[in-house]
Amino acid sequence: MSSNRKHLLGLEGVSREDIQTILDSALSFKEILQRPIPKVPALRGVTVVNLFFEPSTRTRISFELAEKRLSADTVNFSSSTSSVKKGETLKDTARNIEAMKIDIVVIRHSYPGAPHFLANWLNASIINAGDGAHEHPTQGLLDLLTLYEKFGSFDGLKVLIVGDISHSRVARSNIFGLNTMGADVSICGPGTLLPYQAESLGVRVYSDLDEAIKNADVINVLRIQLERQGKGLLPSLREYRNLFGITRERLKKLDPGVVIMHPGPINRGVEIDSDVADSKQSVILHQVTNGVAVRMAVLYHVMGSERSEVPE
Ligand code: CP
Repeated sequence: MSSNRKHLLGLEGVSREDIQTILDSALSFKEILQRPIPKVPALRGVTVVNLFFEPSTRTRISFELAEKRLSADTVNFSSSTSSVKKGETLKDTARNIEAMKIDIVVIRHSYPGAPHFLANWLNASIINAGDGAHEHPTQGLLDLLTLYEKFGSFDGLKVLIVGDISHSRVARSNIFGLNTMGADVSICGPGTLLPYQAESLGVRVYSDLDEAIKNADVINVLRIQLERQGKGLLPSLREYRNLFGITRERLKKLDPGVVIMHPGPINRGVEIDSDVADSKQSVILHQVTNGVAVRMAVLYHVMGSERSEVPE
């Protein structure tokens, strides 16, 4: 995040110190969320617009909850019921909303760079809630928080990300965040779904899942975007499951301490078996819980360093 008007556009380039500050604040907010009245006045008087141009369950609801827990005023925008349907551009939509005096825009958009575009045009703080295949920084942060709670440190933690890395904003934000925090990151997937020159992202690259999982402390399983089937990128879902699925049989061969993550939504029986998703090793719902606290921390910090102490 930069000074003055702060944004969270991605985790690429965010310092270890800034990520640690967010994680520490999120842990404090988690304590607040356990209280009988899980609400603080930290963002009273602040107005947040949730601008979602793509479907979302977890991100949209957890941002809205986080805003309400911080006592902000929130407005939800859905492109399907807006004047975007009449041809209004992103720039005009955002500038008209800002003319109603708002402080923070949370944006999800299929166009990579849409949050950066808004940051150039608006005076509000911009938070990226997922932009195309580019980044999903709050997902990266909630994944980091989940691992931090579980392991207490990232140094040398072996994290394997499995699946469609090329098209995954979650993978990119995780790779940037984990590398910055000192983890040892690997990726595995079919060659058609791995980025060109993937090693340049600072990761080890595997094409054989059974080889890759031998070394992992954590396996983060990505959703296979079913729309990729039929475009020559996936042979068939059955073959994908056989070669790259986190199956019950594969789980049995692993150390029982290995942690299974998935950002959701899950394709049960494709990239992950139902038994694995619901196993004791799975922290999938824990990730979702952490999403609220992490988004509270991000909203709190974009509103300025003078508010860096989390309120009691
Ligand atoms: N993980 C994630 O971004 O989920 P949603 O698309 O439901 O927000």
